[in-house]
Amino acid sequence: MAKEFTVAVAGATGAVGVEMVKTLEKRNFPVKNLKLLASARSAGKTMKFKGEDVVIEEMTENSFKGVDIALFSAGGDISKAYRKCVVDAGAVMIDNSSAFRMEDDVPLIVPEVNPEDIKWHKGVIANPNCTTAIMLVAVAPLHRAKGLKRVVASTYQAASGAGAKGMAELIEQTRQILNGEPIEPKAFAHRIAFSLIPHIDSFMPNGYTKEELKMLNESRKMLHLPELLLTCTSVRIPAMRAHSESLNLEFENEITPEEARAILEAAPGVTVVDDPEKKLYPMPVDATEKYDVLAGRIRQDISRNDKRGLDIFVSGDQLLKGAALNAVQIAELL
Ligand code: A2P
Repeated sequence: MAKEFTVAVAGATGAVGVEMVKTLEKRNFPVKNLKLLASARSAGKTMKFKGEDVVIEEMTENSFKGVDIALFSAGGDISKAYRKCVVDAGAVMIDNSSAFRMEDDVPLIVPEVNPEDIKWHKGVIANPNCTTAIMLVAVAPLHRAKGLKRVVASTYQAASGAGAKGMAELIEQTRQILNGEPIEPKAFAHRIAFSLIPHIDSFMPNGYTKEELKMLNESRKMLHLPELLLTCTSVRIPAMRAHSESLNLEFENEITPEEARAILEAAPGVTVVDDPEKKLYPMPVDATEKYDVLAGRIRQDISRNDKRGLDIFVSGDQLLKGAALNAVQIAELL
């Protein structure tokens, strides 16, 4: 009989945690026993898994005995606090936070991009930043064919990036504004309904945000391209749960839009949506609840006098490919 695993989901009630549980079920992951862990606030409530009610437990240091795989999405501080007890219990931690991503002995993995890195894990595997994962699913196959040199990215990131409270705030604020009621931003620094905020995560001394630097550093690590040049502006927009990105790409070798389309059509995890005459291009509403990253608006960069520049637009479900799905795919690779 095929091996089955005891799987824990830490942060099971959160925006990503809920999707992790659904993805384990939908992909028929061989789960022998599922442990749903959250804060004391949620202990005793239930969530459905394969038609059964599973009782949520308060996460403690003793929660990981007998666990094979622990999917973590309860925030970086919690991942740091529990790392040792998870590894000591013999479980493999697949962590969605940014806590360990840049550590030398922690592989950072998108299965379509760098599955080979799983071999050197030492008990912790990091799930990348959501915008980086969505970008690289589309960019890595182009890089393999043509050699990526430089990226100029602008992102359009959904409320779901701030968790369940971000999505709730977008809905509530929209209602308040339509009713002429006062608003009080909490999950975001400013009003998000009917506006946008060019600020995700905290600012660094060089004027970039941490989110923007994750795109650079995590791409270098996963593509094994320490010299990659990348600049990014990350923007929060009032979309619910899929992130979009405008990507200007420069390659070592010439690449035409037709070649790029053919490469992306053959790439796992990508659906090409690129028929401008029929008004078909990637959009967050269409990427929502899809496993694939949508890629389109593929065109030659006309600001150059060679054919080494390409513009593309991608949309991917932040909670799935950007988080829960990627984590479950890492578990599948294991
Ligand atoms: P809870 O719902 O009990 O607060 P999101 O990213 O959507 O905000 O979700 C965060 C997740 O992390 C939730 O599942 C939340 O559980 C969980 N969490 C927050 N604090 C703790 C904690 N101290 N111990 C365990 N889980 C926690």
